Amino acid sequence: MRHPLHVTVNGIATGTEVESHRSLLSVLRDEVGLTGPKEGCDDSECGACMVLLDGRPVNACSYLALQTDGREVTTVEGVADAEGLHPVQRELLEAGGVQCGFCTPGIVMSATALLDSEPDCDEDQVRRALAGNLCRCTGYQKIVEAVLRAARSRPRPLRGPEGGPQQ
Ligand code: FES
Ligand code: FES
Repeated sequence: MRHPLHVTVNGIATGTEVESHRSLLSVLRDEVGLTGPKEGCDDSECGACMVLLDGRPVNACSYLALQTDGREVTTVEGVADAEGLHPVQRELLEAGGVQCGFCTPGIVMSATALLDSEPDCDEDQVRRALAGNLCRCTGYQKIVEAVLRAARSRPRPLRGPEGGPQQ
């Protein structure tokens, strides 16, 4: 039996019907046509399927699609804008943090969520944020460097003399 599902995906309202056992990952890939989120382990171990659900990173393989009804999902296809790649994507390419690329969409999503919540993050925070993303190719160092460079490259709000916003 199929049930109606309404999700906003990358800012676009999307409606479909899905069976109750379908994962968010399978619906994104097979119904919505977004193949950025990858199926690695299908068991919450590798992070290749990472997406943002209402701004927080989740493993899409382990979420029932119907649990996301009425919510907002962002995939790697939704992080670049008209001005170009997201800073995390750009710095991953610059730093050589992409090899086979299978882990990259998930890493981009974990890193963008971190930069949104902790724009001044340090290396320890980056490593903790990426702890659920496995990469078999790069050894992680270049990925961590890329995320730190992306954090430093983002514009900061101007601060007044008391540390508050500049008037
Ligand atoms: S495919 Fe979802 S965590 Fe590995
Ligand atoms: S670049 Fe190959 S798994 Fe990370």
